[in-house]
Amino acid sequence: MDKTKLIERAEILVGAVDDLPTIPAVATKVLQMVDDPDASVEEIADMMLTDQVMTARIMKLINSPVYKPAQEITSLRRALVYLGLRHVREIALTTSVISAFDGTTGVLDLKAFWEHSFGVGMVSKIIAKKVGYIDLEKAYIAGIIHDLGEVFLSNFLREPFLEVLDYIKAHPVTLSEAEELLLGTTHSEIGLCMARKWNFPEAYSDIIAHHHNPEAATVDPILCAIVNLSDLFCTVRELNYGGLGWVTFNLNEQVAWSILKEKSPDMARMDVERFCYELDDAIPDVKALVSSIFSTT
Ligand SMILES: [Fe+2]
Ligand SMILES: [Fe+2]
Repeated sequence: MDKTKLIERAEILVGAVDDLPTIPAVATKVLQMVDDPDASVEEIADMMLTDQVMTARIMKLINSPVYKPAQEITSLRRALVYLGLRHVREIALTTSVISAFDGTTGVLDLKAFWEHSFGVGMVSKIIAKKVGYIDLEKAYIAGIIHDLGEVFLSNFLREPFLEVLDYIKAHPVTLSEAEELLLGTTHSEIGLCMARKWNFPEAYSDIIAHHHNPEAATVDPILCAIVNLSDLFCTVRELNYGGLGWVTFNLNEQVAWSILKEKSPDMARMDVERFCYELDDAIPDVKALVSSIFSTT
């Protein structure tokens, strides 16, 4: 089916939902302030403090084993200084996206879903570094939000989505193929429509739309290829929210691998096995971060 038809169908489905969760206005303001050279850490901290959920998540994250502060950090301002302003952008956005769906009941196990998403974010960051991609935080954010459309399907199209999940258990097709067949669209187009509703920057909506066909990305094909590989990698490394979909994964045959090899001399020299081996090394850290974000203690 052609992409325009898939997007049209997604627009109808997303448009039909009246109570689509919203991203808090605080998150959008913080994103603007981080890009404003005149905004101080104090001002940004004050803005964030108006959102208690965001504040609580940041404090939990900053004191997690991943960031390992020498002493416990108890003020948001100190947390922001410790993390650096670049990280504020990623935290404001990701904590808001998680909160938007907190407490919702869908077909997917949300924790497993975010494990996959954060896993893809972290692995994207690692691949970005290897490739010499400049904005590592952007790679992280793109990885975290790439499958947003799945949460929509899980929450608002429960019955049809359950049929999709049953279908892939019985047939050797990918999740996207089953979605297209049974829903007339896929989570990529659904995610694109949500990203547009939430006014995400174009660079992110393009990745959400093309993370399963990075050759079609127009805004940032390199980052899209990074997220695509990271997604495949996490899917075969137990960060795949419950083993959804039928996945074959031969790095040498991936379009994303060719895109990166073409663009990065470091990557062109990289041996596939070594690449996978190095990513494997990072998986325990990825799992530790994910559990620190979601732990309730
Ligand atoms: Fe996906
Ligand atoms: Fe994914």
